[in-house]
Amino acid sequence: MRSTLIAICVGGLLVASAATTPAMAATVAPPPPSPAQTTTAAASIDNLAPTPPMGWNSWNKFGCDINEALIRETADALVSSGMRDAGYEYVNIDDCWMAPERDAQGRLQPDPVRFPNGIAALADYVHALGLKLGIYSSAGTATCQGLPASLGYEMVDAQSWADWGVDYLKYDNCNNQGVPALERYQAMGDALAATGRPIVYSLCEWGANAPWLWGDEVGGDLWRTTGDISDNWGSVMSLLDSQVGLQSYSGPNAWNDPDMLEVGNGGMTSTEYRAHMSLWALLNAPLIAGNDLRTMDAETLSMLTNAAVVGVNQDWGGEQGSIRRDDGDAEVWAKPMSDGSVAVVLLNRGDGPAMIATDAKEIGLAKSAAYSVSDVWAETTASSSGVVRANVASHGAAMYIVAAGTGRHSTPAVTLGTELPVYFAGGQSATLTTNVYNDGTTAVENLTVELQAPDGWSVSPMQTSRDSLAPKQAWTAQWTLTADGTAALGETQFPVQARWTWRETSATVNASAVTTVVEPIPAGDHFLSDLNFVRSTNAWGPVERDQTNGEQGQADGKVLTIAGTAYAKGLGVHAPSVVTYFAGGSCTQVSAQVGVDDETGNRGSVAFEVWGDGALLASSGVVTGGQPAVPLTAAVTGVDVLELRATDGGDGMNYDHADWADARITC
Ligand code: GLA
Repeated sequence: MRSTLIAICVGGLLVASAATTPAMAATVAPPPPSPAQTTTAAASIDNLAPTPPMGWNSWNKFGCDINEALIRETADALVSSGMRDAGYEYVNIDDCWMAPERDAQGRLQPDPVRFPNGIAALADYVHALGLKLGIYSSAGTATCQGLPASLGYEMVDAQSWADWGVDYLKYDNCNNQGVPALERYQAMGDALAATGRPIVYSLCEWGANAPWLWGDEVGGDLWRTTGDISDNWGSVMSLLDSQVGLQSYSGPNAWNDPDMLEVGNGGMTSTEYRAHMSLWALLNAPLIAGNDLRTMDAETLSMLTNAAVVGVNQDWGGEQGSIRRDDGDAEVWAKPMSDGSVAVVLLNRGDGPAMIATDAKEIGLAKSAAYSVSDVWAETTASSSGVVRANVASHGAAMYIVAAGTGRHSTPAVTLGTELPVYFAGGQSATLTTNVYNDGTTAVENLTVELQAPDGWSVSPMQTSRDSLAPKQAWTAQWTLTADGTAALGETQFPVQARWTWRETSATVNASAVTTVVEPIPAGDHFLSDLNFVRSTNAWGPVERDQTNGEQGQADGKVLTIAGTAYAKGLGVHAPSVVTYFAGGSCTQVSAQVGVDDETGNRGSVAFEVWGDGALLASSGVVTGGQPAVPLTAAVTGVDVLELRATDGGDGMNYDHADWADARITC
């Protein structure tokens, strides 16, 4: 099973054996059918997903470790948490629900240990709660976890699901025997239609054959445009990049699907999850939660159920948002709403906070004297003369709904930002810049900015003031930060507050300047795997020292091996990945033997790059699985910030287990 896992899920969860599946102690008799169930049967087969489907799926959190108790408890949690009322409707069982063999009549049967009461009983239970049930199979001879799947059994399987009362099918692409995708997905589309039961048809074809071009024709309501998501920022950003240009293929009953949500699964920060949620809402992605709904915290629930964010996703016009400006780390995304307003996401992919701005014209709004700018996460509204600006945290997103012709009487949109070097090598002083922008239509008065210094730091001045700031004006002030020698290593925050009055009411805005206090690498020759890195991103699990990337969350301890050659030292990563060191200008050379690790079975492709202070210094070009290691050397004299980047080689990140073998630095 392991090799299949690496092959399909880019590392994934192992199939839980029957022995590890919790035994079902007692089963609750489902309550009688509710009115919701009766209306389900009446829905038109052509209009099953007028807005992007919303619900939950078992895969991201539970993999194969599923059973009927989990599904029932999740359905209960959808109701008790308020998620059902926020729009989350489908309870979707992913891979591993089926028994290893078909029955004597050739029908799929539920795994007798995991689902002893069958799927029909679960469907009844879920329907009685006003929810709908989803199921999973593959357009192949076996599912991605090696269980029986539906290629050649389309009619019989579709009929089983219809008989059981299933409302949604996720149809995967594993073990497809090279049969053309169109043929395979058409066969299931026809079989579902032939049952007469309305069943949402979700094509999980990973975007391999551009399903956005034919998914609608085969009866699909949504189609995956990408490989699998994983619970980290690199994965979310790489999926986002592959959505560029697909917006025209999305609309009611025909949605692009960049894969399910990871919100609440623990691999990202709250800031990153909020950005993931903002972007998926703007992309009209199906909002399929993938966390444990039974134990989620209040913050996760509030992210998943924010009414304005869900409202952007579910807007009846169904126009998918798209990128409007790409400044590298700073991006502007916008989605036209059917009431004439525009939803905007300002995304910061960089390592430090960034001031990002757009304007009415760029996001497609008509000229107007004033605009209302509603911050959907902060739940505040301000007035703007046209600029939409935010101080966005690293790996964060601000999200607004902007409307023309309104907002004149709201408080002016005032934004506070800071500029500070990303890294601070101890013992020196640095200049911090604060910027206050008034993007409103009227002046603000009595403006003060105040800065706080953490332990080990002094700041001069402590505060600065001015009488007023006119509309469309900015005010810049500079501050000197000095570390007294006791400042702690690591990320350090300098809280900043701006205060002002507007029409006799006072207002404040807070920001935080961030730097990371670092020690330069000591003189001598070092293996990079023996040194601290100041930051890392990795598409699957952590960056590993002296071993391969392996599977998620597992210290596999596999030896780094490229084309049969083993290496005792080095870094094992999964592209896309960036490992950052602070060289502090005192190193001269970096070298490594780079390649795709043999654990991918000669698959995968990666390009290895060495960057210094934001400039590309050396690149391996695309290296493919099975290819001998490529020697890579970069001169790094004078470089402060050194990055080892592994990109996906231009073909997506599947199988991209990348080795920086024998990686060394001379300082
Ligand atoms: C593939 C799909 C995933 C998940 C797994 C289950 O990787 O893309 O979303 O369904 O299979 O095995």
